[in-house]
Order: sequence, then C-alpha cells, then structure tokens
Amino acid sequence: MNVFDAIRKRSSVRNFLDKSIEEEKLSTVLEAGRFAPSAKNRQEWRFVVVKDPEVRRKIAEAANGQSFVGEAPVVIVACAVTDGYVMSCGQPSYPIDVAIALDHISLAAVEFGLGTCWIGAFYEEKVKEILGIPNGVRVVDLMPIGYPAIQTVKEKNRLSYDEIVKNEQW
Ligand SMILES: Cc1cc2nc3c(=O)[nH]c(=O)nc-3n(C[C@H](O)[C@H](O)[C@H](O)COP(=O)(O)O)c2cc1C
Repeated sequence: MNVFDAIRKRSSVRNFLDKSIEEEKLSTVLEAGRFAPSAKNRQEWRFVVVKDPEVRRKIAEAANGQSFVGEAPVVIVACAVTDGYVMSCGQPSYPIDVAIALDHISLAAVEFGLGTCWIGAFYEEKVKEILGIPNGVRVVDLMPIGYPAIQTVKEKNRLSYDEIVKNEQW
C-alpha cells in the first residue's frame, strides 16, 4: 500500500472485533512511531500499551465514558517525557512530536487492516493514576487500536483544497 492509499483509507474506527492483534503487527506499527521526526530529535514520546481488559475499561471511563475505547484489544497511551522545551516559534515541541509519531502509527495500522481512533477527550490525571505515570510525564492522546467490526468507506468530510491552501501570501 502506498502512503496516499493509507492516508485516504484511514478513518476513525469506533467499533472493534473481539480479536487480539498479532504481536508482530503491533510492534511493527509501534516501530512506525519510533521512526517519526521530532524537534531536535528529542523523541519525547513514550507509549504505554494496555491490553488488560479491566485497565482498558478504566481508561475508557477516564475518557469521558467513551466505552468503545475499552472495547479495542489494545489502547496505546501516548505520553511525553518533557522538560517543557519550547521552540523558537513559540510552540512547545512535545505535543507536536507525539502527534507526529501517533500519526505514523495510525497510518501504519492501515497497512495491516487495523483501525484506530484518536482520543483527546480524557482526564489526564485519571489516566496517569490508572497507569502509574509519574509526575512530569504528560499524556497527550489515547489511541484504541484493533480490527474494525464494520468495514465502511466513509466520504471524508473536509474543507476544500482552495479553502486551506493560500499561494504566496495569506
Ligand atoms: C486530536 C484529536 C482528538 C480526537 N478526540 C476524539 C475523541 O475523544 N473521541 C472520538 O470519538 N473521536 C476523536 N477524534 C476523532 C475525530 O473526531 C476524527 O478524526 C474527525 O472527525 C475526522 O474523521 P476521520 O478520523 O474519520 O477522518 C479526535 C481526533 C483528533 C485528531
């Protein structure tokens, strides 16, 4: 599958089969995150891979009760070890770097027929408590991953090219 196919095929999956992910596939998908670029190559990302059903259920609860999160066989909890580094552009590097790695992961998942969903609606302190994540480490996003229960080809609801691309000047 080429990169464009993966980008077009990826869409949020919120229904998962009760089927585990082969270890080799899971580690290959995580490897895609490891190869991501990051500011100054800081690689702040750390991924907590949660398979335990009871822990997944607790995480789903901490994610505003979005139960489908806990129904995936694996939840990747994307964290950052950060010293608060801010780039000259004024943006902190860690959320950007972790998001790039997670995007690599979500696209690599498509290659194996795995579905993912970005989850930003969660209470960080609750997730940290459930997983014993130390102070100073941030939880940036959650990503349930598994085989989709329903194969749908959804039309992408996106702004048009002309609405988002400006040539030469704003
Ligand atoms: C940073 C981020 C946070 C998101 N948080 C949630 C979430 O908490 N729950 C959810 O169901 N979807 C969440 N989404 C998924 C978006 O709703 C979805 O990506 C968007 O509607 C586009 O649809 P698509 O992913 O199918 O292309 C999130 C997406 C991103 C990028």
